[in-house]
Amino acid sequence: MSQDSIVAGSYAGASSSAGRGLWSSRWAFFLAATGSAVGLGNIWKFPYITGENGGGAFVLVYLACILVIGIPLLMAEVMIGRRGRANPEGAMAVLAKQAGASRHWRILGSVAVLTGFLILSFYAVVAGWAVAYAPAAALGEFAGLDGERSGALFGAMLGDPWKLAGFGTLVLLVTLGIVALGVREGLERALRFMMPGLFLLLLVLVGYAATTGHFMAAVSFLFDADFSKLSAQSVLVALGHAFFTLSLASGAMMAYGSYLPAGTSIARTALMVALADTGVALLAGLAIFPLVFANGLEPGAGPGLIFVTLPIAFGQMPLGQLVGGLFFVMLAIAALTSAISLSEPTISWLSEKFGIGRLKAVLLSGLALWLLSLGTVFSFNAWSEFTLFGKTFFDCLDYLTTNLLMPLGGLGTVLFTGWVLSRESVQEALGLDNPQLFKLWWQVLRWVTPLGILVVFLHTLGLFG
Ligand code: PHE
Repeated sequence: MSQDSIVAGSYAGASSSAGRGLWSSRWAFFLAATGSAVGLGNIWKFPYITGENGGGAFVLVYLACILVIGIPLLMAEVMIGRRGRANPEGAMAVLAKQAGASRHWRILGSVAVLTGFLILSFYAVVAGWAVAYAPAAALGEFAGLDGERSGALFGAMLGDPWKLAGFGTLVLLVTLGIVALGVREGLERALRFMMPGLFLLLLVLVGYAATTGHFMAAVSFLFDADFSKLSAQSVLVALGHAFFTLSLASGAMMAYGSYLPAGTSIARTALMVALADTGVALLAGLAIFPLVFANGLEPGAGPGLIFVTLPIAFGQMPLGQLVGGLFFVMLAIAALTSAISLSEPTISWLSEKFGIGRLKAVLLSGLALWLLSLGTVFSFNAWSEFTLFGKTFFDCLDYLTTNLLMPLGGLGTVLFTGWVLSRESVQEALGLDNPQLFKLWWQVLRWVTPLGILVVFLHTLGLFG
């Protein structure tokens, strides 16, 4: 580790890695990385894209993508962070230098920081919806809603820039407040109670869903694979979601990896994070779809599944206020722990690259994030008519990050790890002692993962399939 520090210190512009802070244990890292991975992607996006893509067969393809693309890349990113012991750009610079490769590889790290920054600017606004819906659900505002009125309620929120900006700002303030306190005092302390709380709420909700009598319908919807319902497009959606849900190619996992104590097995921890993330997505499906079926609603309702369809169910069912309130509190917590991880790359980058204090970095990035988040706020109201290629500002940001920057950045990181770094140095840094398992991971990372990503990317550009 001391050697790492020396090299990290020689990264131009970086302050020395001493005093950066470390997670107190492997468990703390696991909580933080799982908190990053589990978010709107698991509870909002996964159920609705599963609904849109026909259920079981899609879930199976998604699991395959997690296995051959998500997990190998997750391990690579955490490894780069820990070896570099710096923000994503700094870490890439350190590793490129050690490998005697071009210093331009660091650009990959800068792109990751930018990706996380851009995602956070709209993620905070969507997280604000969950914050707004929690009290609404608990206070009984959903009582007796039908589809039309539920849609109107959601529409009214989106149409109100003050409300959207207010809740988005609140999310940013809480996120940055926690991050400002530092790795152990802020991140770790908050995560230690937020993550168990999140799991507990999820289990309560699944338990409740199991009593609706439509639990088995949800189980067979999620797990009976009918491949005739699967299109080529679905496969690509599953691939893209694997990136997003594991927080890849956005600097988050590299930044968190940079605080990982030496000697922790990255392979084992990454596997646990991926398992927990997938488990939460499946449990979210098992909490949501029984309610959808019990109330005769449509599973393929799209992005409105959580904010339009589910409130109808909460308004009709016994204990709906309590369950609905808990559901949106859970969603807000999940989103917050992800938002925290989205801000960390930018903050460590600002403070290490420009040598400014953490608090100053938080304030600077907070201001920039807030201004940019207003663009997303206005995309749903004042600016909804201003479009570029038929996309609003929010759609553009979402497309740019999820469909362009993430696949490109992920591809770059995989190629850097598999083809630029030496096999020995990677094996040592990973802590994957079993030679057979390492060989398997290495081959998958060098061949299967990049080819898989390339397929999504070319498809996104419309050049393929
Ligand atoms: N993984 C988070 C989710 O599923 C989103 C996220 C993406 C967080 C990228 C950090 C970095 O909601």
